[in-house]
Amino acid sequence: MEFKIGEIENLPVESDSIDLIISNCVINLSSQKEQVFREAFRVAKTNGRIMISDIILLKDLPDYVKNSVEGHIACLAGAVRKEDYMNAIRNAGFTEITIDKQAPFPIELMLHDPIAEKIVRENNLTDKEIKSIADSIASISVSAKKP
Ligand SMILES: C[S@@+](CC[C@H](N)C(=O)[O-])C[C@H]1O[C@@H](n2cnc3c(N)ncnc32)[C@H](O)[C@@H]1O
Repeated sequence: MEFKIGEIENLPVESDSIDLIISNCVINLSSQKEQVFREAFRVAKTNGRIMISDIILLKDLPDYVKNSVEGHIACLAGAVRKEDYMNAIRNAGFTEITIDKQAPFPIELMLHDPIAEKIVRENNLTDKEIKSIADSIASISVSAKKP
C-alpha cells in the first residue's frame, strides 16, 4: 500500500491507473467541483469506479451560512445543489451514475454540534429557521463508472 498527499483538484496519480476512487465528505470543500470530477475521471482506469459520500443541498442556504467560516468548517457552506453535483459527475464523462443512498441532515446536529450551534446562536435563529436549514441539506452516496 502507498499513501500520497495531494489535492483533489490535481491528484498526484498517473492517468488511467486507479480501479476504485473513494471519498468521504471532502468534495464539498472544493470550490472547483467540476475539476475534481475531471481529475477523478482522468486517473480512473476504463471500467474503474468512483464511490463518494458527500453533503449536497436540496435548497439554497441563507447567505449568513454560505458566507460563514463555521459554515465552511461544518461542510455546509461549500456544498452545492444536488443537480449541479450530479451534472459535474456526468460532465466529467462518468456513466452509470447512481445515488445509492440519501439521508437527511439531522436537525439535532444543528443544535448540538459546537460549530453548527455557533451559527444558530450568533444569528439568533428561530426553530423554523433551524428546520429550514436542516431541510436544505442532505448526505448522499453516489457511485459511477468510467466507460
Ligand atoms: C471532513 S474531512 C474528511 C474526513 C475523512 N474523509 C473521513 O472519512 O474521516 C475533510 C478533509 O478534506 C481535506 N481537504 C479539504 N480540501 C481538500 C482539497 N482541495 N484536496 C484534498 N483534501 C482536501 C481536509 O484537509 C480534511 O482533511
